[in-house]
This record gives sequence, C-alpha cells and structure tokens, in this order.
Amino acid sequence: MARRYRIGFVRGDGIGPEVVDAVLEVVSHLMPGAELVELQAGYEYYRRTGKSMEDDFLEKAREVDAIIKGPLYTPPHDPSFRSVNVLIRRELDLYANVRPFRSFRGISQRQFNLVIFRENVEGEYVGVEGVFGDVAVSLRVITRRGAERICRQAFSYAKAAGLKRVTVVHKANILKLSDGLFRQTFFDVAKEFPDLVPEEIIVDTATYALVKSPEKFQVLVTPNLYGDILSDLVGGLVGSLGLCGSALIGDRVGVFEPVHGVALDIAGKGVANPVGMLTASKLMLDHLGQKRGDPELLRRASILDNAIRVVIEDRGVWTPDLGGRCGTRDVTSAVIEEIDRAL
Ligand code: NAI
Repeated sequence: MARRYRIGFVRGDGIGPEVVDAVLEVVSHLMPGAELVELQAGYEYYRRTGKSMEDDFLEKAREVDAIIKGPLYTPPHDPSFRSVNVLIRRELDLYANVRPFRSFRGISQRQFNLVIFRENVEGEYVGVEGVFGDVAVSLRVITRRGAERICRQAFSYAKAAGLKRVTVVHKANILKLSDGLFRQTFFDVAKEFPDLVPEEIIVDTATYALVKSPEKFQVLVTPNLYGDILSDLVGGLVGSLGLCGSALIGDRVGVFEPVHGVALDIAGKGVANPVGMLTASKLMLDHLGQKRGDPELLRRASILDNAIRVVIEDRGVWTPDLGGRCGTRDVTSAVIEEIDRAL
C-alpha cells in the first residue's frame, strides 16, 4: 500500500480489549505498514491511575489519522466519574454519529438497510444538570449550527449514495422550541437538496414503525438521545448489537467504535462478537479512503465488508449472541481467511 497511516486505538473496558485486539489484527492485515498508536482512557484506566484518560490523550488523538475505539464504561452508581465518551466526543467535536444498519441473511427477521445520523454532542448530553431539593433538572440544548451540520451530513450521504428519502425524527409536538428548531433546520437544509424527499416522524411513532417495517426507512437524522435509543432498537432488529458499528465524524479526526457497550456479563470469556468493531473499522477504511483519495483503501474496505458477510451469512461462524458456539478468535480468523482469499 502506497500510503502510510497513523491509527490510534483505545482498548476500552469490559469486552473492549477483546474486540479491539481482533480488529487490530485485521487492520494490520489490510493496512500493512500502518503505525498503531495506543491511547489510554476509561474506567479500568481510572481505577489503575486515578485519571480517566492519560494526560496527552487529546493531543495524541488530534495527531492520528483515525481512531479505533473500544467501548468505555461509565458506571451509573459513581456520580464522580464523568463519561469519557462524552468528553472525547465534545473535545474532538465529533458531532456526527453515523450508524449504518444492514440485516444479515439467516439472522435478521426482516431485510433492511438504513443509516441513522445521530447528533452527537448536544441535546441532553451537554452534561448540565442540577439538583434543587427534591427536584433534579437536566438542560437540553439544540443549536441551529448543531442541527444544521448533522442534517447536512445526512442529506449529503443520501445524495452520494443515490437514495431518495431522508427522515427527521423529533418530538416537536411537545418540545416545540428545542425539537422545533431541529425540525425546522432539517427542512431548511432540505432545500439545498431538491432531488431528495424530506420526511418527518415523531420519535414514538418512529420506534413503532422501525419494529414493524424497517425496510421503509433509508436515512434517519435525530437529536442525540433519540438516536442513542433508536440505534439499540435497530441493533436488536439486525439480530445482535454485536453486529453493528459506527463512525463518529468531526471536521478533523474520526473515531470508529461498535454500537454496543462494555457487555460486562460476557467480558473476559472470549465470546464477544467482534463483528460490530470490525464493521466500525470497515467504516474507518471507507472514511480514510474517501478523505485521502485512496482507491486501494476503498477496495480493501469492500473486501472486509464482503469477508464479514461470508463469515456470518454463508459460513455460520457465530458467537453465542447469534446462537452459535464460536469464540471471538474463531470469527476473527475466519474473516482473515476470507480477506486473504480476496487480496
Ligand atoms: P451493552 O451493549 O454493553 O450490552 C447489552 C447486551 O448486549 C448484553 O447482554 C451484552 O452481553 C450484549 N452484547 C453487547 N455487545 C456484544 C458483543 N460484541 N458480543 C456479544 N454480545 C454483546 O449494553 P449495557 O449493558 O447497557 O451497557 C453497559 C455499559 O456500557 C453502559 O453502562 C455504558 O457505560 C457502556 N457503554 C459504552 C458505550 C461506548 O463506549 N460507546 C456505548 C454503550 C454503552
């Protein structure tokens, strides 16, 4: 490969190290010569060092071309430990959380292919909360700039992919000002894309409609919290959260992580499904290939995508979350075999 890339990686908590190690093996195969730079952060790191991330984490993160990130644990019982995910997203201004969901033949009950564009730094996640006696209040922030950039990403993606419709998910019937601004901004941005049909749906109806007929949707764009919740729902429709990956995109570095969390119930057992993390790394290859004009990397992204499909759909190399008996390593080895066949 002609180009040289610097890829940061965060092992993360729970099953993070297991799935990140799997991906590093695959990425080294697909991007020989890539420099891998470890970035340390998370709850495990905090327990060892008293800090939630290493001192130069953000500096190092801004210097690499992309970051592969395992899930990080934010214990709900420890109010003094603030989410490192939220911190990373805010500091690197990773405003778009892009989550493509495609069904798998033999696993998913329905066949569909949709992408959720979740606004990733605003809404309820700005972290401004207060307690006044017996009353707790959280601030929900929607800005025109924040709504505009995520909506523009969603429309641009739909246009480039040759799709027809983009749907905004909101609750502007009740949250008239905040979701009202998100909704209005969506329709303003839609005017820049006259070939695409802008559609809207209330978030509770969206939940119902996704379960009933996910194939009716192409691209969904949502404020932060709705996207978080709907993603797990669609992950369930795919068949397992362990199959789904995401790209966190800002104007500079991109971070690529699975949709799932730390899965403490199966951590350390060697049975975590690495496909979500592998799918995230496929998104990284696509992203870098497009950004840097590297057709070979784009070709390799599609080889990885195909290898995952063959391993899950044709060869049935399944971890327990899919009803199989294989381990993380079995899936990883099978994916590498398929890659070698194609390279
Ligand atoms: P989770 O996604 O960790 O687990 C939900 C269920 O899915 C569990 O039964 C788990 O075993 C299963 N699962 C998840 N990933 C899997 C995989 N790769 N292979 C096989 N099975 C898998 O959700 P949960 O338990 O609600 O979250 C735990 C913690 O994870 C949260 O408290 C939060 O701190 C953290 N989290 C971190 C995220 C991130 O770093 N981006 C995202 C979501 C949660």
